[in-house]
Amino acid sequence: MSSLRLFLLTCALDAPTLAGADPLAPTAKWSANEAGHAPVPPMGWNSWNAFNSDVDEAAVLASAQALVDTGLSRLGYRYVNIDDGWWLKRRTSDNRLLIRTDRFPSAATGANPSFRPLTDRLHAMGLKAGIYSDIGRNSCGQIYTPDFKNQPEGSVAEREVGLYGHVDADIRLYFAEWGFDFIKVDGCGIRGLPADAPRVRAGMYRALPPLVDMQSLGGSDIAGVRALYEEVSAALVRHTAGRPYVYSLCLWGAGDVRAWGKNVGNMSRTSDDIQPSWDRMLTNLDTVTHRALYAHPGSWNDPDMLFVGTGDFDRDHLVEARSHFTLWAMLNAPLIIGYDLRKLTPDLLSIFGNAALTAINQDAAGNQAVLAYDSDQVQIFVKTLADGSKALAVLNRTARAVQAVLTAEHLKLLPGADVQLIDLWTKKASRFRKELTIDLAPHATQAFVATGTRRLADGLYLSEQTGRVNPAVDGVVEPMPEPAIHHSITPWTGTRGAGDHPQYGGWGGAEADRAPGGKLLRVAGAAFNTGIGILANSRLEVRNAGFTRFTSQVGVNDSGRRRGGPVTFEVWGDGKLLARSQPKTFGAPAEPLSATVAGVAIIELVVRASGADGAMAQPATWGDAALRR
Ligand code: GLA
Repeated sequence: MSSLRLFLLTCALDAPTLAGADPLAPTAKWSANEAGHAPVPPMGWNSWNAFNSDVDEAAVLASAQALVDTGLSRLGYRYVNIDDGWWLKRRTSDNRLLIRTDRFPSAATGANPSFRPLTDRLHAMGLKAGIYSDIGRNSCGQIYTPDFKNQPEGSVAEREVGLYGHVDADIRLYFAEWGFDFIKVDGCGIRGLPADAPRVRAGMYRALPPLVDMQSLGGSDIAGVRALYEEVSAALVRHTAGRPYVYSLCLWGAGDVRAWGKNVGNMSRTSDDIQPSWDRMLTNLDTVTHRALYAHPGSWNDPDMLFVGTGDFDRDHLVEARSHFTLWAMLNAPLIIGYDLRKLTPDLLSIFGNAALTAINQDAAGNQAVLAYDSDQVQIFVKTLADGSKALAVLNRTARAVQAVLTAEHLKLLPGADVQLIDLWTKKASRFRKELTIDLAPHATQAFVATGTRRLADGLYLSEQTGRVNPAVDGVVEPMPEPAIHHSITPWTGTRGAGDHPQYGGWGGAEADRAPGGKLLRVAGAAFNTGIGILANSRLEVRNAGFTRFTSQVGVNDSGRRRGGPVTFEVWGDGKLLARSQPKTFGAPAEPLSATVAGVAIIELVVRASGADGAMAQPATWGDAALRR
């Protein structure tokens, strides 16, 4: 048999198996979550940061009323979410969850207490209602903070208030019967109840072999955790009957949720709980800054709720409060207020109510700001808006005044033409050419909208449309914790022990305007100011908004390894191969790779590794990657 015939025969035999097994095989589909309703980041209020588990109906309704009376609801703050502390017990005769009617009097509707009167009331106010549960049998408060108020009561079985084993019935109750529109699903129940846990041994709770090991990604059952959260997604579809809902995952970055959360929920926590401290805010911020490509309309990174109004962000620290708010708005974080709005002052209202910033957060393009400049002192974030203009924030992370230089280059605008700025806090207009020196007070963030002359006149760089770029396969083989996150002292351990270690499972293998791990985009010594960096063995899905041509310069990034095998770059359009590069090795100059994409809905950018070192995931650069008209 000739070698060609043998080759063809092998291909024919293997094709179906390979197609099924090859994660890099183009699908001509967008795979990030589109279920539920979060075309822009959800906005609203949640009881936790203000009340802990000591929440009641009066507090919830007062904050809801304040959202309406202050006009905040008109800016988009619509979700009013009850967090931990609402449940009394699970009735064992029929497994129905009972509400603490002493705290929520309107729920005392007879034999079957119901939140329906409360959700009806919130809906009548033009608001939406959110509820809280846990993916395990028991809640965070039960497992970690037994001194919380309003702990579930009764026998072991009655205190099993979480979703585990009850997903269908509980989701039906919350959405079909009680009329909620939002659910936050915490994960403590699948983390803290091994057979040898003191409270299990003492007979308080049933053991549930942990699926999440907070200190070990390798030791977590990633597929098992994901399957549980997917069971909830499916139940939500069943029990909302087409009604819009929001599914909020609360796994604090554990269980490798950084990789799959965007395919399952509408928002997904990237870090442990925020605290009202500047350092903790930085920790939480750092878990999202490099993840612009993992956020899209329908699935947002969640660095946790706002702490504006409290502690380091209270009315005596308005600089810090404005910084926290600006950063959350720019990074497309869900804007969920965690303040007792009965105490709202005009100063605090002017922060939550900064309409220019909420509009930037809610911009329809859904592009999370990309890190344009990075250091431990100053960071510059740039977010491309739907109309092509730029929003930008310059953050001073330190407690000392610093000077920052903003350049037209940071904004991908021409340095020779005027750049117009409008300050998002003072509304003052100004202009500069080439670069602008900005004086930043300690902990200050200056924020602007900028317009100028685009460097790329006939299109958009991919890093300017991250809401349409999805790393379906990002090349990460073994999840690895990300070390480069601000390590803060936590209130729960102080400086006892060895120090807080972020549980967060990495930024991921794909970055906008950077190579994986925050490295610079550079191929054979030539730097790229823009592009997508991604590990080899990866597949990016790109929604094409009417562009006709894809252009790029491809090669192995200089942050790779000399020993690594070659990688090949492919451009696909709706499942058809449009262009393929030569095999590129470390140190070889970048090669232009372009394709006509007129009429194509989904472009896929695939990088395949071959050679001995393929599994070591060489960083690949889609330099200057752009869609043009
Ligand atoms: C976890 C979550 C918090 C909050 C508490 C409630 O810690 O991360 O946001 O919901 O549980 O107990």
